[in-house]
Amino acid sequence: MHKLRHLCLATVAKVSTRLKCTEGRPCAPLGSRILTNPDDIFKHNMWDHVQWTEEEVKNAQLKAKENSSVQIPSWEQGTFDTEACHYWDTFYVLHQHKFFKNRNWLLLEFPELLPTDLKSQTGNCHDSSTPNLPQDAALEPNQAAVHLSYPGQRAPFRLLEVGCGVGNSVFPIIRDIKEKGAFLYCCDFSPCAIQLLKGHPDYDDSVCHAFLHDICEEEASLPFPPQSLDVILAVFVLSTIHPDRIQGVVNRLSSYLKCGGYFLFRDYGRFDFTQLRFKKGQCLSENFYTRGNGTRVYFFTKEEIHDLFTKAGLEEVQNMEDRRLQVNRGKKVSMRRVWMQSKFRKPYPLSPC
Ligand SMILES: C[S@@+](CC[C@H](N)C(=O)[O-])C[C@H]1O[C@@H](n2cnc3c(N)ncnc32)[C@H](O)[C@@H]1O
Repeated sequence: MHKLRHLCLATVAKVSTRLKCTEGRPCAPLGSRILTNPDDIFKHNMWDHVQWTEEEVKNAQLKAKENSSVQIPSWEQGTFDTEACHYWDTFYVLHQHKFFKNRNWLLLEFPELLPTDLKSQTGNCHDSSTPNLPQDAALEPNQAAVHLSYPGQRAPFRLLEVGCGVGNSVFPIIRDIKEKGAFLYCCDFSPCAIQLLKGHPDYDDSVCHAFLHDICEEEASLPFPPQSLDVILAVFVLSTIHPDRIQGVVNRLSSYLKCGGYFLFRDYGRFDFTQLRFKKGQCLSENFYTRGNGTRVYFFTKEEIHDLFTKAGLEEVQNMEDRRLQVNRGKKVSMRRVWMQSKFRKPYPLSPC
C-alpha cells in the first residue's frame, strides 16, 4: 500500500497543470501513463509522473554523496576539457549512428519548434510592435554587411540545434519543416558526427545546414547573424560541458535569438538513475562525472536551470522535472529517471534602444 502511494503520484494537480495550454499553443503532453497498481509495473516500459518518497530522496542524496566522495584530482581534470572534442569524436567513430534513438517526441513536447503560423512568433528586438521586419533590419550596419548572404536567409523561421550529434533530433525536425519553409541549422564539434549526419539519406541541404562548431569557443563565429533565430534547441548537450562554462555558452547562444524566440532545453536532472549508478572515482565535482570513455555529464536542478537562462536575459515559460519510472521488463528491474525540460523566451525590450 505504501509502495502504491508513492508510485501513484499521478496527482490530479500535476496532470491538470500539464494539460494547460500555454498561450494558445498546443499542449505539450508529457505522457499520461500512470502506475496506480504496483502489480502492473512490468506491463509497460515507462511510467509517467513518478513521485519520490522522502526516503527515496534521502537514499539518492546519500548515494550521490558516496559516489562523489572520491573526486578525480584537479590536475587530471584539464584533459577532459581540452580533449572533450576528441572523446566525443571517438565515441561517434565507435558507435556511428547506432547509439541514440531518434527523438520522435520532440515536436509533441516542443510545439514551439514548428508553430502553425511561422511568421508571427518573433521579431526585431529593437521594436516590439513590428515583429515581422526582415531580419537584417535588426542588425548594426557592419553586422548586416558581414552577413550579406547566409544559408537559410530567406526562410521565415530559423532554428538551431546545438550539439546535434548524428542528427537524432535533426531528422524528426527536417521531416516536418520541409513543407513549411523553415530552415534548420545544426552543429556539433565532432567531425565524425557531422560527417555521418550529412551523409544520411534524409539530410537535405535545401532546409538544413550542418556545420562543425564548438559552442564553448568564445571567438568562433556562426553562419548567421545575431538576433536571427526563432528557436535554439539543446538536447542533452549542456550537461556535457564543464559547469563553469555553461553560463557563457547560454549567454552567447541567446544573443542569436530574435526577440520572442525560444531556447528549448532537455537534459539530465539531479539524482537521475545514471547519476546514482556512477562509481567512486568518476566524479569531477559536485554532480559532475566522467564516463569511462572520457565524456562528461552534469545533473541539473530546476533552480540552476532557471538561473542559467534568466541570467542570459531570457524569461521562463516552462521549467519542469520529468520524473519517470523506466522498466526493463526482461530483467525485471526499474529505474527512476529524472529529466529536465525547459522553455525560455527572449523578451522584447520595454522601450526601443
Ligand atoms: C549526449 S550527445 C546528444 C546528441 C543529440 N543532441 C541528441 O539528442 O541525440 C551530446 C552531443 O553534444 C556534442 N557536444 C558536446 N560538447 C560540445 C561543444 N562544446 N560544442 C559542440 N558540440 C558539443 C557532442 O559531440 C555530442 O554529439
